[in-house]
Amino acid sequence: MRYDGLMNPQQQETNMADPVKDKHIVLGVCGGIAAYKAVNLLRVLVRSGAHIRVIMTRSAQEFVGPLTFEALSGQPVWTHMFGKQKDGPFRHITWANETDAAVIVPATANIIGKMAHGIADDPLTTFVLTVQAPILVCPSMNFQMYENRAVQENIKRLEQTGKKVLHPEVGALACGSKGPGRLPDVEVIAEGLRSLLCPQDLEGERILITAGPTQEPIDPVRFISNPSSGKMGYALARVARRRGAQVLLISGPTMLSNPQGVEVIRVRTAEDMFNAVMDHVEQTTIMVMAAAVSDWRPAGFFEHKQKKEEIAPDLRVEQTMDILKAVGRNKKGQILVGFAAETQDLKENACGKLTAKNLDLIVANLIGQDDSGFASDTNQVTLFYRNGRTEALPLMDKGALAGILFDRVLEIRKSV
Ligand code: CTP
Repeated sequence: MRYDGLMNPQQQETNMADPVKDKHIVLGVCGGIAAYKAVNLLRVLVRSGAHIRVIMTRSAQEFVGPLTFEALSGQPVWTHMFGKQKDGPFRHITWANETDAAVIVPATANIIGKMAHGIADDPLTTFVLTVQAPILVCPSMNFQMYENRAVQENIKRLEQTGKKVLHPEVGALACGSKGPGRLPDVEVIAEGLRSLLCPQDLEGERILITAGPTQEPIDPVRFISNPSSGKMGYALARVARRRGAQVLLISGPTMLSNPQGVEVIRVRTAEDMFNAVMDHVEQTTIMVMAAAVSDWRPAGFFEHKQKKEEIAPDLRVEQTMDILKAVGRNKKGQILVGFAAETQDLKENACGKLTAKNLDLIVANLIGQDDSGFASDTNQVTLFYRNGRTEALPLMDKGALAGILFDRVLEIRKSV
């Protein structure tokens, strides 16, 4: 590929195919210092397009007022078991039946104990006992309380009964001490919730993904690169993680932040990327190479900035190593997916690469259109399979495409 341009500094990752979008989520808030963080979580989820209902325990209301949650969710907050409710006396049943997922933030020792033993004596515990949808429990408390044997046994019990527990982080606690008990960042909780809403069909897979461009330096201020934003590779990493995989993302220089829960190795050149991939290839079960690797690099590197007249007319270049080809040649049972960016003869070029690089699947797109390819949030691709099958997909956002690609990878896995 030869797209020698500078990366657009405006590149931003968008909210691609967010699993919480349009979902009905109940946020249970309990009485702990971290209750104020539940407000931020609510805002993150609302911004992602979720419909949120809030249930607060009596103690929670000592820390944050229900009005804050009511204003931000646009819904009445459930605070008392009894009293006039517009939706009748069976609110715990109606809300439970209308819920796609629930999250409890912060989950105190008290609610954890009640949930573990089936106690229902307030709106939140009554709801929790009724709801069939998945629940994410986010404990946060003083570390001595958290490490207390009874609390640990109750947490174990919750996990054994199918509740997902997002364990607290070790860090500075509100009481001035340090230890496990700190509520994870709200973005981490939101990501846990997204995962809860996705099938865990990639559990057990170790997936290596390459993303972004590479930069091949000419001198300290110039390099050869291409306009790849990395959005496709990052979307793949995020989706794979949400579906339960262990993910390693090897990324060239991008403006994107690391996806939650994904191990990221940042590299600059094709050679760095080659080395990072080769170091990890043996431990992977699936590899998706979405990086736009520079095919050429300067034959030498100038230690000092060169005057323009000194390099422009005869910059000598040499080919970089083809990472995907090297991986394809040596693969041992891994499923290997490549990308092909073409401006013409899509089928011929893509199928040529499929064979030459020993791939199971190649994702081909015609670049040069505004809504597809580099830096765009959407992509329109055709899939070419090793068995000769062709599948043209409509224009869609890169998150949705990432989901389809992993569906297809699992189909390939079943068929071999
Ligand atoms: N690729 C790679 N290492 C390279 C070049 C490409 O791993 N040095 C990978 C890309 O990540 C992509 C696939 O190979 O998955 C096809 O990349 P593309 O640039 O479309 O094709 P090239 O093989 O570079 O061929 P050409 O540029 O001549 O079309």
